[in-house]
Amino acid sequence: MNLRPHVGLTFDDVLLVPKRSAIKSRSLVSTSTYFSRGIQIAVPIVSANMDTVTEAPMAIAMARAGGIGVIHRFMPIKKQALQISRVKRVESFIVEDPLVISADAKVSDARQMLEDTKVGGLGVLDSQAKLIGLITTRDILLETNLNILVKDVMTTLDRLVTAPVGISMEEARAQLHKRGVEKLPLVDEHGTLQGMITTKDIIKLEKHPDATKDEKGRLRVAAAVGVRDNDFERALACVNAGADALVVDIAHGHSDMAIKMVQQLKRRLPDVDVIAGNVATPEGVHDLASVGADGIKVGVGPGSTCVTRSVTGFGVPQLTAVSECSKDGQASGVPILADGGIRTSGDIVKALGAGASAVMVGSLLAGTDESPGAVIVRGGRRYKIVRGMASLTANIHRREIDGHTDVHPTDLEQVIPEGVEAIVPYRGGAKETIIQLVGGLRSGLSYCGANTIQSLWESAEFIRITPAGMIENEHHDVQAV
Ligand code: XMP
Repeated sequence: MNLRPHVGLTFDDVLLVPKRSAIKSRSLVSTSTYFSRGIQIAVPIVSANMDTVTEAPMAIAMARAGGIGVIHRFMPIKKQALQISRVKRVESFIVEDPLVISADAKVSDARQMLEDTKVGGLGVLDSQAKLIGLITTRDILLETNLNILVKDVMTTLDRLVTAPVGISMEEARAQLHKRGVEKLPLVDEHGTLQGMITTKDIIKLEKHPDATKDEKGRLRVAAAVGVRDNDFERALACVNAGADALVVDIAHGHSDMAIKMVQQLKRRLPDVDVIAGNVATPEGVHDLASVGADGIKVGVGPGSTCVTRSVTGFGVPQLTAVSECSKDGQASGVPILADGGIRTSGDIVKALGAGASAVMVGSLLAGTDESPGAVIVRGGRRYKIVRGMASLTANIHRREIDGHTDVHPTDLEQVIPEGVEAIVPYRGGAKETIIQLVGGLRSGLSYCGANTIQSLWESAEFIRITPAGMIENEHHDVQAV
């Protein structure tokens, strides 16, 4: 028998040993980390690519909170691309396609357009489609003669503040503030209007200071893809819709198929970060990193809805898997995402202490408003449904997406589920859950005297505990109210 010499441990087998701390307040620690080589996130939490966890509403909530969501792949390609573009459109500091009107149009037309679209101003173009002014609601609010022309009431170009294409959000903000204007048209060297930045949009963005945003101020989002023939098409559609990263999502990520897919994506879409998984060994990390993976998901069987370990006998207890994989990940500069089995903020601190850059969370977020699916009531309590992506019902759903509407009962006998469907308590908005998790993480960092996740990697020290220790961990000998 070929037996690894050490014991595999998971979250409940250990505790972190408190360290001397100079941290005066939990608010002073940084939870900033990397989701992938190129994508930094302020909060090390990623919502799982499961069909009961992440579609556009969850991805929006996650990115606003400083994490990121991975839109699952168990839907037609077009629908997944649409989900991505919903996330990308919800916030932006640049209006890329600003509304325009001809200088010779009537004020009545401008008023109608402003009313219909609920925007505050229109770019005014001459017959050559060059920007020659701006007309805002204020310009026409008190105008009684609606037959006069836009060019007679607009603010002309010489009185406007414009900016070049490519201006940063900070510069734009400073210009808007200094010049006391509400709109900053972006004009190229030919005098053509290429975009608009508004004070209103910037204020909206600043409501979420930790939000995970791209260079245009849009929320970031990742898309899961598989390894089948049409999955490159899926990847391309998601990237064209604005996906910031792709997650190659298969149960056994240390496989030739996953390695090939990562290779293909890196070759054909070199500007997009590719995260791959799932693996549970340093060998798996090495093989995916060596073909260019920009992030690696670690976890075979720890998830709340997973039965892979009992069905196949395979897996590595999650804390040991994360710890061993992180050594290779850190050495090659590839962030490790601890995927599965996170139940508390304490588990997050342990996963990060073991070397992960971030954690992926499924069922803990499945009970929130932003996850797909309705709230159900049982015995007077509210719940939502979560299901493993290898569960029987997920399998049936997948066949339907693939166009097999005539699934015969005997077909299903061939399905060997490696996941279950379950109910989880309804938890309200995802934001509240994230606040609790991040609060616990901040507290955890301060117990370790670590003001960053990187310093937690260096100072974290674990101690193994016994079943008696586990009982001591929870409240005991009292009845909680
Ligand atoms: P949690 O514990 O956060 O775990 O709900 C989420 C992760 O579980 C994995 N997952 C599965 N694993 N069979 C498995 O073995 C499944 O059916 C299944 N569905 C999800 C996945 O890695 C996810 O992110």
